[in-house]
Amino acid sequence: MNMFNILTTKKMNTLKINNLELTYKNGHQAIRNISLEIKNGMFGLLGPNGAGKSSLMKTIVGLQKPSSGTIEFNDIDVVSQTEYIKKNLGFLPQDFGVYPKVNAYDLLNHIAVLKGINNKVERKNQIQYLLEKVNLWHFKDKEVHTFSGGMKQRFGVAQALLGNPKIIIVDEPTAGLDPEERNRFNTLLSDISNEVIVILSTHLVEDVKNLCSEMTIMNKGQILKTGRPKALITELQGKIWSKSINNEELEFYLTNFNVISQQLIERQLQITVFSPEQPEGFYSIEPLLEHVYFNVLSQNN
Ligand SMILES: Nc1ncnc2c1ncn2[C@@H]1O[C@H](COP(=O)(O)OP(=O)(O)OP(=O)(O)O)[C@@H](O)[C@H]1O
Ligand SMILES: [Mg+2]
Repeated sequence: MNMFNILTTKKMNTLKINNLELTYKNGHQAIRNISLEIKNGMFGLLGPNGAGKSSLMKTIVGLQKPSSGTIEFNDIDVVSQTEYIKKNLGFLPQDFGVYPKVNAYDLLNHIAVLKGINNKVERKNQIQYLLEKVNLWHFKDKEVHTFSGGMKQRFGVAQALLGNPKIIIVDEPTAGLDPEERNRFNTLLSDISNEVIVILSTHLVEDVKNLCSEMTIMNKGQILKTGRPKALITELQGKIWSKSINNEELEFYLTNFNVISQQLIERQLQITVFSPEQPEGFYSIEPLLEHVYFNVLSQNN
């Protein structure tokens, strides 16, 4: 049984975004005509720096208003009714800012009060349950600003889960974590996502590959491709080719082929290209999610 059964209901949740646009005061258009429909499970928002991931997330959680378009959560317009999403939301922002000098337990208690959990016993139960879940119960009396990066991120998840949210939005949560912490963190999110919507933004293909049932690739404020990771990989079957080349030849291949990656393998330069047909001298390789990502980015540059 999923341990989060006691915190969440099993209802299917839906987030519908339609024709969303956002232009900042300085004239920069950070979101361009985005439409998405997201249901329970883990949804990966993948894109390079500056793609607009944080802009999109901050707009969904109601921290900023879109210039146009609609956002509905379980059929309620949350652009006009921000309280509805705030009540049902857990948010782990990319930049949490400075932690006050209070211990983990007291900080969670404070946030729980702000989230409207007025019953003292219920607050205590939830805080203990969540601190145990994120492996921080042992550190409940330690001040959060003294935590390691991984511990801070797990604390961030605990605060996001207070109040039984139906939608959890985490903005680049694994950035700066070592592989072991990243694994632990990802497993935690994956556990939760059976019964709620979890939207995870990242620039790491690896995180999406291992965790997300559905994903979208965005860049320059636009959605470039959406689907299930496996299906997107299958689309590339028989279209990814590789070849070892000399450094001097690189220019030629960059100009004449759709090169999606280049890497040095034992000091030999190897390029991977996208092509519907086998280019001469290339051998076929199995497509990976990395190829999906770099192919989509390169075709939309
Ligand atoms: N408050 C703001 N005012 C003006 N421009 C902004 C503002 N916030 C972000 N931008 C710009 O909008 C674009 C998208 O930024 P955003 O932070 O959403 O990208 P991101 O995908 O989250 O990037 P990263 O992976 O680096 O976190 C960038 O060009 C950024 O400079
Ligand atoms: Mg960001």
